[in-house]
Parts: sequence; structure tokens; C-alpha cells
Amino acid sequence: MTAERQRLSVVTGAAGVLGAAVTRQLIADGHRVVMLDVAGDRLQEKKSELGAAVAAMAVDVGDPEAVEWACERIRNDHGPVDTLVNNAGILSNHKAEGTTAEEWRRLMAVNLDGAFYLARALLPDMRRQRWGRIVNVCSLAMKSGGLTAGTAYTVSKGGLGALTFSLAREVAAEGITVNGVAPAYVRTPMVTEQLTAVQRKALLRQIPVHRFCEPEEVARLIAFLASPHAGFITGEIIDINGGLHMD
Ligand SMILES: NC(=O)c1ccc[n+]([C@@H]2O[C@H](COP(=O)([O-])OP(=O)(O)OC[C@H]3O[C@@H](n4cnc5c(N)ncnc54)[C@H](O)[C@@H]3O)[C@@H](O)[C@H]2O)c1
Repeated sequence: MTAERQRLSVVTGAAGVLGAAVTRQLIADGHRVVMLDVAGDRLQEKKSELGAAVAAMAVDVGDPEAVEWACERIRNDHGPVDTLVNNAGILSNHKAEGTTAEEWRRLMAVNLDGAFYLARALLPDMRRQRWGRIVNVCSLAMKSGGLTAGTAYTVSKGGLGALTFSLAREVAAEGITVNGVAPAYVRTPMVTEQLTAVQRKALLRQIPVHRFCEPEEVARLIAFLASPHAGFITGEIIDINGGLHMD
């Protein structure tokens, strides 16, 4: 990557709370950002609110053809992508016996397959320019077995962790880093709406720092991993969980 060219970044799930915070942070750091999300209307609203994103595209990341089409359009309209943040995700809190086959497939499609389709489509340009950053938004669930999170979610995030390691090894010699972040209990609808008040109260007692994580805290960590300063970090999953899990 030449120093003159402004970095181009793709953020998935960009209409969500964390995705919007990541978009905002990358823009503040000088990136041009393409926002992707399946929720087209919410995405357009977010883009208007954030102002400076270069494009917003309604894409289901679990649909391989839609991802190929979107990546081709991004390449044609804006040039090669330097940074991919695989943030799109859906949560299910059902444990194994309460999980339907459809639910299992959907969680895998969005949380795991989507990250693979995007990385596969964007890696060739990263290889050509011998520069790239991929950051996968995993979860503490992959390490803890899922405290409140369900089986499909936990397994999808475990797969995303393994995808991180696999890709990191494949492209390490080509100036491309692939890392993950493993947040727990970020103040987004996954916590404020998908957990009960009783669960939230119990968690606040359990989390050593006694608060939920702010989306901006995760966004800054992702932006660091996307920066040139993080070139010696690859194949790493960084915890951000207020001390809930220490290793
Ligand atoms: N909130 C937490 O406590 C927490 C903890 C650990 C990990 N995470 C992860 O952080 C990421 C962001 O979650 P959030 O908390 O901001 O939730 P959110 O629901 O606000 O954002 C998720 C976004 O992903 C989008 N999305 C869903 N399915 C999609 C698809 N098929 N294609 C494209 N976009 C799709 C949604 O429309 C939404 O805008 C997720 O991957 C989530 O698993 C969140």
C-alpha cells in the first residue's frame, strides 16, 4: 500500500451498534469505509448519520453470490480493499436441545460462512498489494462454552476463531494480518434486548469491572488491529471482557 492512498475498508454488520462504532472509528482514522448490512433501510440511515462513509450496500453475507457481486462492485467503484472487518452476526441463546436445524444453519451462514466468503473475495487484491488487515469479531462464547449464549452461536464463533488462525497462517508472509477480537457483553441490543433484566444484573456482579463494555472500546481495538502499528500481530484473538475470562 502506498502511503498516499487512503485506506479502503469494508465493515459488515455496519448498521448495527458495534459495526457503526467501528465505521465511525475507521473514518476518524482516515479510512474510506464501505458499509455492508442485510438491513438496507437501517444501513442507509446509519450512512446518513455518519456522513463520511463512501458507500453502503445491502448484502446478506450468508449468500455467497451476493458477497461476490458486492465485492466486485466495491473493486470497480472504489478500488482494492485494504481492511475487512467481519462484524455481521446474529445471536441465539438457545442451548442444543432448543435449537432447530434452520436456526443452526442460519447462525453458521451469517456468523461463519459470511466471513469466509468475504475473505475469499477480498484476499486476492490484498495479496497483490502485499498489504491487508482482516479482523473477525468473535466472542468470549467461543472460549467459555457460552455463558448466556446458545450452542449454535458459540460454535459459529469457535469456527470463526479457527478461520482466523487458518487464514492468518496462509497469508502471513504477504503483508496481511488476520486477527480476531473476543468481546463479552457489549452495550448493544444483544445485551439490552436479548438478555433479561435478571441476567443483566447477575452479569454485572460477575464481570470483575462491574459494567458492560462500550461499543467504542471494541471499535478502538479493531482500529488498532487494522492499523500499520499492528503488523506483528497475526493469528491472535484479543479478549475484551472486563476480566470475565483471564488467560
Ligand atoms: N453485543 C455483544 O455483547 C457482543 C459480544 C460478543 C460478540 N459480539 C459480536 O459483535 C458483532 C456485532 O454485534 P452487535 O452487538 O453490534 O449487534 P447488532 O445486532 O447491533 O449488529 C449486528 C448487525 O449485523 C447485521 N446482520 C445480521 N445478519 C446479517 C447478514 N446476513 N448479512 C449482513 N449483515 C447482517 C444486522 O442487521 C446488524 O446490523 C456480532 O458479530 C456479535 O456476535 C457482540
